Amino acid sequence: MYQILSKRALNEQVTMMEIEAPLIAKKARPGQFIIFRVDEFGERVPLTVAATDPERGAVTIIFQAVGLATKKLQQLEAGDAILDFVGPLGRPSDLDGARRAVVIGGGVGNAIAYPSARYLHEHGAEVDVIAGFRSRDLVILEEELAAASTRLYITTDDGSYGEAGFVTDKLRALLDAGNQYDLAIAIGPVPMMKFVSRLTREYHLRTLVSLNPIMVDGTGMCGGCRVLVGGETRFACVDGPEFDGHQVDFDDLMLRNRSYLEQEQEDHTCRLQQAVQNHGGKA
Ligand code: NAD
Ligand code: FES
Repeated sequence: MYQILSKRALNEQVTMMEIEAPLIAKKARPGQFIIFRVDEFGERVPLTVAATDPERGAVTIIFQAVGLATKKLQQLEAGDAILDFVGPLGRPSDLDGARRAVVIGGGVGNAIAYPSARYLHEHGAEVDVIAGFRSRDLVILEEELAAASTRLYITTDDGSYGEAGFVTDKLRALLDAGNQYDLAIAIGPVPMMKFVSRLTREYHLRTLVSLNPIMVDGTGMCGGCRVLVGGETRFACVDGPEFDGHQVDFDDLMLRNRSYLEQEQEDHTCRLQQAVQNHGGKA
């Protein structure tokens, strides 16, 4: 079992937790992820590692309570424990060599963009962060992002905080103003990553995106996380989750991600579990 060391609500739907997992805390690098299961009946959910504290053996995860598993996790408190916490999985981000980077986070995606911004900043790169949210009440990690960047630009779709508009509006303004970058990292909703990549292609700016397809085992066995990159099938769990944004087929990813939307929203009751209960504990 893996104990929850701390819990903090970042907004009404987004929660930050530290989980005690010393081996993962020691090994995980920016860009890698874990898969958790709350209990034996829970689904397996991948989450990018937001931060680690090897001395305390703590791994920070940030998640939005959208499906049943994340809602169950959100209901737990510090001191409770979850059944599985496996990782680090996936390949670390390819950040070395970048001297001037622009990191673009959309909504909850800022939680995943944050460790990359921090790593680049700590390794001497100049880092502009553009953090976009629908409205002021959804803004998360403002202090952390400010500390991990040279300049932080916050945008809101409705103009209730920071600059009005999408992250792509701010990015275009920075590029048009002559800012030169050698790396862009875009993490957030798939349409956001698609339009950021379309824009940076015009400027021949290397762009990494973090893909979030449906995952099951996270080890390259099930094929659930197939994505099309450069016309070839790749597995996000072992070949990614980060890929060259100029090569990704985002429309295909959007189609695949919609496959189980209905089931994710349902208050699912496991039929196997019911059968076991009905037969006095024997399936
Ligand atoms: P959101 O819909 O509130 O969007 C956040 C920001 O992204 C917006 O404020 C805007 O600036 C930008 N954006 C959105 N659509 C855009 C478009 N068409 N063009 C340009 N910019 C656009 O985001 P949210 O609700 O916080 O995020 C939820 C989504 O993010 C979910 O679909 C989730 O699966 C995804 N997500 C992805 C990752 C990942 O690893 N890529 C991680 C966490 C969440
Ligand atoms: Fe199964 Fe990637 S999650 S192959």
